Amino acid sequence: MAREPVYQGPENDTSDDGIPGSVNSDGGDPGKDSQDSPADSMGSSPLDEEYDYTLRPQSFKDVVGQKKVMERLSIILQAAQKRKEPLGHILFDGPPGLGKTTLATVLPKEMGTEFQYTSAPSLSAPKDLLPFLTNASYGSVLFIDEIHRLPPIVEEFIYPAMEDYRIDIVLGEGVNARTVNMKLKPFTIIGATTRPGMLTAPLRDRFVNRERLDFYEVDELAEIVRRNAKKLNTVISEEASFELASRSRGTPRKSNNLLLWTRDYAEMRTKDGIIGLEIAQQALRMREVDDMGLENLDRRYLKTLISIFAGGPAGIQAIAHSMNLPPDTLEDEVEPFLLRMGLLQRTPRGRIVTSSALEQLGMSISGDNQPIN
Ligand SMILES: Nc1ncnc2c1ncn2[C@@H]1O[C@H](COP(=O)(O)OP(=O)(O)OP(=O)(O)O)[C@@H](O)[C@H]1O
Ligand SMILES: [Mg+2]
Repeated sequence: MAREPVYQGPENDTSDDGIPGSVNSDGGDPGKDSQDSPADSMGSSPLDEEYDYTLRPQSFKDVVGQKKVMERLSIILQAAQKRKEPLGHILFDGPPGLGKTTLATVLPKEMGTEFQYTSAPSLSAPKDLLPFLTNASYGSVLFIDEIHRLPPIVEEFIYPAMEDYRIDIVLGEGVNARTVNMKLKPFTIIGATTRPGMLTAPLRDRFVNRERLDFYEVDELAEIVRRNAKKLNTVISEEASFELASRSRGTPRKSNNLLLWTRDYAEMRTKDGIIGLEIAQQALRMREVDDMGLENLDRRYLKTLISIFAGGPAGIQAIAHSMNLPPDTLEDEVEPFLLRMGLLQRTPRGRIVTSSALEQLGMSISGDNQPIN
């Protein structure tokens, strides 16, 4: 499988002049830094990630949906190309799987510039970021994933780099300490976060462009399913593509995962491997994805809130504790979709389940509820 060259760090490839080559094809997916970034959402297997990579759009024309965002990005990209200047820094935010990493990788490809990838949890001190900054060539892109997790000391170090393309390095200690300024080549930082609220205002404001990715419409996801089925040499009917799309929680990553599963199912349970509506429905039933796209984790969350907290209000810490899961996982991966579907309310007093959620699960607050599994 052809992997795109991705420059991953100075220790891998630094030429004599300190400028990175274009290079490291050891299989690092820019979106999946196996060592440094925490496990990706909802447990995709390494095989899924391989496919995810081949399914990831490689250019602007492959990107489906996010029309307004794409229009604005095209404008800043063309303006930068016209002026032969680097792009202004860009911050992408939004729930997991909506295309933040995808857009960050597509932009430098469109510009024909170099790309470096890092993730905030791997940057514990300025020295961890320094090589990326000194290696950034003119107009190149440095992508910092999970940027809300930058430690304050690294954040302060990055400010002058973003604003003036300069870094201040402190040499020595105590009375002998002195600061040396170092000029950098003008470059672009693209940050991605699922938690924009955790970014400090000074960091947030240094991003000239800020784009929030929202959930996708069903017809956009159906288009993604059909395009990706073609890439996977799988035949899928129009109705089946809509069936998968409407159960994908508005998220392309989910659509891809459901397509891969349904393809396996069709291959094992039919003679021709074609995904028709009925096969798609059977596959989704077996995967325990309901007609709204709710998965086990979503149902467990709602059932916990209903059965243990009498429908709420309940604090996220308490719910997470009862489910034996980190609150971050619930806030990032479960709640945005439940809120969007009107199954959950977030109030100052805590989370409250809605009547639609009770209806969807066939439960009642005081009634005889099923055990949580
Ligand atoms: N606009 C799009 N058009 C087509 N496919 C898309 C689009 N956005 C995302 N995808 C598909 O969904 C997958 C997940 O997207 P991506 O990794 O960019 O999400 P993310 O926002 O970075 O998620 P996370 O917050 O978990 O890092 C991609 O590999 C790609 O296959
Ligand atoms: Mg990502």
